[in-house]
Parts: sequence; C-alpha cells; structure tokens
Amino acid sequence: MWSIEKKEKLAGSGLGPGDADAMYEHFFGLDEIPFSLTPDPRFLWPSETHQEGLASLYYGITRRKGFILLTGEVGAGKTTLLRATLARLKREIDVALVINTADMEPVDLLKLVVTEFRLTGNFASKADYIIALNNFLLERLRMGLNTVLIIDEAQNLGTKALEEVRLLSNLETETEKLLQIVLTGQPELLRKLADPALRQLRQRIALEHHVETLRPNEIAPYLEHRIATAGGRIENIFAPGVEPVFYDFSQGCPRLVNLLGDRVLLAAFAQDIRPVPVALVEQKAKSMLEAQRARPSDANDER
Ligand SMILES: Nc1ncnc2c1ncn2[C@@H]1O[C@H](COP(=O)(O)OP(=O)(O)OP(=O)(O)O)[C@@H](O)[C@H]1O
Ligand SMILES: [Mg+2]
Repeated sequence: MWSIEKKEKLAGSGLGPGDADAMYEHFFGLDEIPFSLTPDPRFLWPSETHQEGLASLYYGITRRKGFILLTGEVGAGKTTLLRATLARLKREIDVALVINTADMEPVDLLKLVVTEFRLTGNFASKADYIIALNNFLLERLRMGLNTVLIIDEAQNLGTKALEEVRLLSNLETETEKLLQIVLTGQPELLRKLADPALRQLRQRIALEHHVETLRPNEIAPYLEHRIATAGGRIENIFAPGVEPVFYDFSQGCPRLVNLLGDRVLLAAFAQDIRPVPVALVEQKAKSMLEAQRARPSDANDER
C-alpha cells in the first residue's frame, strides 16, 4: 500500500498521469485502469447504438453484403466497434485493416491493401494491383472463405481514393461480392460522400449505421461497466450523483467520459479520497473545460 507521503510527493512532483496511473488502480481496488483511451473491445458497454453498430458490422460482413458504412462523432466508439467485430469474426474471414489514410493517393491505398493481404509480386501499374487482388479474392471464394477490407478514419480519404474503393467493391462474381468493405469515419465522411462524384459509391452502400453519443441515462451503466471490467465496484470509486457532471462535461462522448474519469481518479488518489466526491469531479471537469476552450481540437487529438 502506498504511504500518504509518497502520494503527496507524487501529487506535487509534476509527474503526469502516465507516471502515476500504474499505482492508482491499487488504491481503488482495481486490477487495471478503467478509463483508458484505447479502443479495447473488452470494455465495450453495449448501449443501443453500439449494439446496433456491432450487429450491422457482423451481419454485413458475414452475409457478404458488400459495402458497409459506420459513421459517428469523434470519440463515439467506432474503432472500438471495429475491434469488437474483428474479435468476433471467425478465423476463416481474412481481414485487412487500413488506417492512417490521411492525404493518401489512390495507388498508395491499393499498395496498403495488397500489403495487408500479404500479396507479393511486381506491381507496375494500378491494373496489376487489381488483377492480383481479384485472383486472390477468387481463390478465397473457391475455398469458401470471406474477405474483408476495413478502412478506419476514412474521412481522411480524398474523393479519388474513395472512388478507388468503389472500384474495389466491383470485384464480384455474378452472384457474390468478393470483398466486404467497411468504411468508418467521422461525420466529415458523410459530407465527402455527398459529393456528386461519389454518387456511384453511395448507391452501393448496403448497410449504414451512425454511432450516437451516450444519453444522460446511459452514463451510469457505462461507468459501472468499465469499472466492473477493470475489476472494481462503482460504489467504491464514485460517490452517488457524479453522472450528470460526467454528462455535462462529455455531452455523452465516451472518449471524454474516459478522459475525465482518468483525471479524476488520479486526483482522488493523490488527495487520498475514496470514493470520489461529486465536488472533485466538478472541479476537474471545470478545469478541463477551461483548458479545452483554450485548445479546441483536443477531443480529436486525445487518442
Ligand atoms: N460503448 C462503449 N463502451 C465502452 N467504452 C467505449 C464505448 N464507446 C467508446 N468507448 C471508449 O471511448 C474511447 C474512444 O473510442 P474510439 O477510439 O473507438 O472512438 P472513435 O469513434 O473511433 O473515435 P475517432 O473518431 O477519434 O476515431 C475508447 O477508449 C473506447 O474504449
Ligand atoms: Mg477511431
């Protein structure tokens, strides 16, 4: 157990959360940190909108629906849903997961896709990539296997690269889609898809889901679920009545709930207070909001 002196030393030391979070879980009787920012599917709480998102992804992929679109606000849980779906998919479904597509040329996208599927060869032109992919996909179909391409953060793709994705969706036999394509992105993606040049892509979207932010009454089960997954009990962590503070601060954005949760637990640990009183959550929320106002792009950057 940590002595008060050590905690005070830590609190006054200017050490960041990364240095201290290895200890606060013990103080609260947790096995691990409950409010990490990583998209870990073990922590997924199945709110209505997240459940629907999961169902769309799973159904669309396993039933070979072709194009699936998953959109949602910054930090709403899209990548977590993708990872949860990947964890559920059987081994015989080969998945290529493409991210970091900012400013990508169409041919770079093709390069990434063949690399993800571990295809090798001499690719001198775009046609070479497409031919190799087509042969690979036909072979997999012959073996009765399904293949998925997931493009996360697709809002970063330009119109030309998105049009290339549509061409990939044309890889099909008379009866079956060879490649299931999942496009995930922030609302900016919807604005991009509204471009008349992408009309054909839009028409091919077989399933679509928009991940909503959490509702006020969903904050309590969300906190409870994340704390239980980390091996704790909410009544040992938070005093009653913290939920509205979390909601006001985050407007239901799970990433912001986690951000506040983590900071609050660290502060309570440093001050040796448990369970965390409402006033401390209010105080942290206020100071974080002030900092956020000074740096408005924070929600986007905190990943
Ligand atoms: N339903 C949920 N249950 C538990 N945790 C969630 C849920 N939804 C989101 N989170 C958590 O919120 C954080 C942000 O989620 P994630 O990274 O999946 O958001 P995103 O929509 O992909 O964001 P971005 O638009 O920035 O790509 C992660 O820590 C994730 O675990
Ligand atoms: Mg994401």
